[in-house]
Amino acid sequence: MISGASRGIGLAVARNLYQAGFSLSLGVRDIEAMRKTVEDWDTSRVLISKYDAVDKGTHKTWVDTTAEHYGRIDGLVNNAGIMQPVSVDDGEFNEKGLDLMWSVNVKAPLSMTCLALPHLRKCGSGRVINVASLAGKAVFGNGVGYSMTKFAAVALSHATRHGGWADGVRCTALCPGYVATDLTSSIETVSLDDMISADDLAELVNTVISLSNTASVAELIVNCRPDIVG
Ligand SMILES: NC(=O)c1ccc[n+]([C@@H]2O[C@H](COP(=O)([O-])OP(=O)(O)OC[C@H]3O[C@@H](n4cnc5c(N)ncnc54)[C@H](OP(=O)(O)O)[C@@H]3O)[C@@H](O)[C@H]2O)c1
Repeated sequence: MISGASRGIGLAVARNLYQAGFSLSLGVRDIEAMRKTVEDWDTSRVLISKYDAVDKGTHKTWVDTTAEHYGRIDGLVNNAGIMQPVSVDDGEFNEKGLDLMWSVNVKAPLSMTCLALPHLRKCGSGRVINVASLAGKAVFGNGVGYSMTKFAAVALSHATRHGGWADGVRCTALCPGYVATDLTSSIETVSLDDMISADDLAELVNTVISLSNTASVAELIVNCRPDIVG
């Protein structure tokens, strides 16, 4: 299961895992657009379901539909995420933006984890990847809101790892720096050519979920420049 598979990192992960032979369940807001994106893929290995992070009903329906369709769920990539401007210098801080980020970046991945965990436990080698961020390991500048949600996503990853461990569930917090996607298109300090490619991250996700239960990667920090972290 991959959330936010419509573009950026999510689409790169979907493409990589599809090419590696995985069967996919893609959670997206626009099902028709996703169908067009994967129109030349083998539909017997690609299920597309509605997933809107801010609509909890879609979380359960996506999990139930996936379990029913494939008879099992062995992996969850909580990838969908947003960035809203919330700074300590805002005067009156952007509460609407922060609430939306909490919903999409934190509460929805938690909800998805709770719903998928019983299935992941059953298969004995379930995998969860939370696409957090380098901003979940260190704070860069005064943009506090996004970082707060990504620190929380790292916390969720560790709790999932502890909670699911005995049943073979392994969870990784993926913590990349700048990745060349729509999310970073307005960044001027680093050029798109100098950012991490989504395809490289997808290859790392493939590796991490393919490792055996005795080689768990708790956090994966990936950077395109020599920051203090990573
Ligand atoms: N790019 C970076 O530099 C970078 C670095 C570190 C971490 N990340 C994290 O990586 C993840 C993917 O980001 P990206 O760079 O690939 O960004 P992106 O290109 O902007 O893609 C964002 C994805 O999230 C989906 N999404 C947004 N709001 C949603 C909602 N309410 N419900 C369901 N899906 C929603 C989007 O779907 P729609 O197409 O429907 O909008 C899209 O598939 C995010 O969690 C982000 O925080 C990105």
